[in-house]
Amino acid sequence: MRLNSPRMNIIYNACMKASKSLIRDFGEIEKLQVSSKGPADFVSAADKRTEKIIIDELLKAHSDYGIVSEEIGEINKNNKDNRWIVDPIDGTLNFLNGIPHFAISIAYEEKGEIVCGLIFDPIKDEMFFAEKGSGAFFNNSRIRVTNKKRLKECILVTGGPKFNSPKKNEIFNEYIKISNLVEAPIRKFGSAALGMSYVAAGRFDGYWEWELKYWDIAAGIIILKEAGGFVDFIEPEPQSSLKRNVIASNSQIHQELLDSLIKKNIE
Ligand code: IPD
Ligand code: CA
Ligand code: CA
Repeated sequence: MRLNSPRMNIIYNACMKASKSLIRDFGEIEKLQVSSKGPADFVSAADKRTEKIIIDELLKAHSDYGIVSEEIGEINKNNKDNRWIVDPIDGTLNFLNGIPHFAISIAYEEKGEIVCGLIFDPIKDEMFFAEKGSGAFFNNSRIRVTNKKRLKECILVTGGPKFNSPKKNEIFNEYIKISNLVEAPIRKFGSAALGMSYVAAGRFDGYWEWELKYWDIAAGIIILKEAGGFVDFIEPEPQSSLKRNVIASNSQIHQELLDSLIKKNIE
């Protein structure tokens, strides 16, 4: 790994330890697909197992740091100055179906600002990471966002809407609207963390999604910023909320994409 600050080392070690167990669990999924019980219970156990390994490692390093993690919730709630943000498996539905596109995501926040983060796709062995002021990396190489300036020529990725979303129709309408602005069909890969990483690595030019949670994108925020991208919120939630409506891009198309998203869907 190209960054070796103490915080990055802690994140890296926790992630590598957890990913060994996650890879083993993924190997079991195929066998479970054919069993009558199905893999859902197993996946929920794998999620918790992965989370426990990560959290144990983070607490071993700093027992007093705050943690926000998807399955377990908050630990050391009062420590808002030093906080880890964890999503043990981002892309659970892919994992559940034996689709090799999911990731571990861990970020570290200091006084409310994300200062480093790592996203690891254990099946493809692809690691995206960044630290404030030190650039963003993919495995051992420095990464940068694309330089495309015209939205029309861009490859965009999105996700959702959730089945019960109160904004479902608006989100579908918005999808149609944005689809008509770009030549390439919009992608939907099912992992917000990897969506952000791919924009940072120049595989996609932009990403947006409603109704995410902070842990889906926390590590992605610093990775994308350090790769020269821009992260913003389509409709900001109050700071205390963990909900996020994110828009992330190569920065060149940012305004055009944002304007297209916030204009009324049906005009
Ligand atoms: C989900 C993924 C997915 C996004 C969902 C998230 P999970 O996270 O990031 O891409 O569309 O909104 O909840 O549940 O797999 O950790
Ligand atoms: Ca998750
Ligand atoms: Ca997630």
